[in-house]
Amino acid sequence: MAKGTFGVTTPIYYINAAPHLGTAYTTVAADTITRYQRMNGYDVSFVTGTDEHGQKIAETAEKNAMTPQAWCDSLAPAFTDAWKTLDIDYTNFVRTTEDRQTRAVQKFWSALHDAGWLYKSAYEGWYCVHEETYYAESDLEKNDEGEFVCPDCKRPVRYEASGEENWFFKLSEFQDRLLAFYDEHPDFIRPVTRRNEIVSFVKGGLNDLSISRSSFDWGIPVPWDEGHVFYVWADALIAYLTGIGYGDGEREAEFDGRWPIQYHFVGKDITRFHCVIWPAMLMAAGMPITHTVFGHGFLLTKGEKMSKSKGNGLMPADLVKVFGVDAYRYYFMSDVQFGHDGSISMERMVQVYNADLANTWGNLVSRVTNMTTKYFEGRVPEAPAAAAENPLREIADTLYADYDACMAEVDFTGAAAAVQKLASRVNLYVEESAPWTLAKDPARADELAGVLYNCLEAIRIIALYMAPFMPNTSAEVFRRLGLGDIAEVTDIQEATAWGQLPASVAVEVGEPLFPRLDVDNLPEL
Ligand code: MSP
Repeated sequence: MAKGTFGVTTPIYYINAAPHLGTAYTTVAADTITRYQRMNGYDVSFVTGTDEHGQKIAETAEKNAMTPQAWCDSLAPAFTDAWKTLDIDYTNFVRTTEDRQTRAVQKFWSALHDAGWLYKSAYEGWYCVHEETYYAESDLEKNDEGEFVCPDCKRPVRYEASGEENWFFKLSEFQDRLLAFYDEHPDFIRPVTRRNEIVSFVKGGLNDLSISRSSFDWGIPVPWDEGHVFYVWADALIAYLTGIGYGDGEREAEFDGRWPIQYHFVGKDITRFHCVIWPAMLMAAGMPITHTVFGHGFLLTKGEKMSKSKGNGLMPADLVKVFGVDAYRYYFMSDVQFGHDGSISMERMVQVYNADLANTWGNLVSRVTNMTTKYFEGRVPEAPAAAAENPLREIADTLYADYDACMAEVDFTGAAAAVQKLASRVNLYVEESAPWTLAKDPARADELAGVLYNCLEAIRIIALYMAPFMPNTSAEVFRRLGLGDIAEVTDIQEATAWGQLPASVAVEVGEPLFPRLDVDNLPEL
């Protein structure tokens, strides 16, 4: 029996550029929490996808002499392939050009239309096609030529003054309700710095939001007004609902059981859409609101935000070739504090790899399995009763509480550090107990058995806690210890209780899990 449902989403990524390290970062984070909460007994939904409508896509498709749909179809595999390379185990991948998305978007906005939350009016104002965002003139910046540019991407913005009629959502009516909601739900916007930004933005007053366009047709049709298509954000946000069955006759019950979810993981640049527009849309629809929008920071290289357009975009697959997928995932989750900007570099990646993975975790598995082969013919020794009291167990006994508290806060760095603490302690324990000395004295055979049993048992427990970060390595460690499929664990607390490693099972040594890297031959970040 599952403890309940748990849901997480990544942004629905614009399909125009293949995933880079920044988008992969959010996706790995969502996958890590998904894997953990599954092991922790929850029935998890993890929705990701691609945002395929809008002016930008329509214009790029045209430049490439393709229809927008054919253009999107040619780009979608870049996402599914990248997520496969990174072992992303999402439950739902939504392309906004799918029929189910059309049904969901039309259902959602028709209900708001019927309830009187929408009105039609001429739109005049500034629009950035690259960000697919409307800006008030007071938010714009100027470039050296004196042109107005987008405050986010710094590209010139367009003045849309065609008298084009748009449908508007009465966002301005939600100011008080949103402020009250933030007050009553202090965890809705995290981390707290983002919360303060949003609260002061909303206090400054809200404009109604244009949710349809009629000057181009690459979008989901507005069902009650021919010639209008939904604005990309009014479309893409709904994918969070589509993914878990909203608007899908056969899956309505599933949707009811899964919504609201725990987390939207987003980059800090798009928190406004998720913390202002999205909850107001849900309020208007009379639907419950996601528990937390977590706005993480940016990955920086050489002090600048990483992005493909700035030319500093190494692809995830390039790094996976060097480090392997598990080390890739571990580095980003353990070394870049979720919620803060984080500088990444090749040097640092190598450092973390060598310290945490090659020298600590990998080395521990090698030396302990080697000693098991040498002193016990490769079988898990039977531990004497006296061995049950030991310093490793002391750490292991409180590890679930520490690790789970970190994961509940999506503090991946803290969770990884808690496991590393046990791994380092086992290495120290090996030094302190010197099995190689014990092995020389037949009178101390029991003691030797106790020490090795404790080390092997700690390795089993570490593998469990490392699994959300490094699923392949943990599965391999389980295999080497003669244990079952780690992916089937659904109660990590119970599974990590001390003393469950069965005696006399054959243990395999295998190749080093994290071979040392040749640091002279690394690609440039
Ligand atoms: N399509 C919208 C999201 C709609 S969600 C209903 C969108 N797509 S995007 O492809 O531009 O998404 C970019 C995401 O990647 C954002 O969350 C952004 O913060 C994140 N990142 C882009 N560059 C980044 C870094 N250098 N570092 C970390 N994340 C960054 O916005």
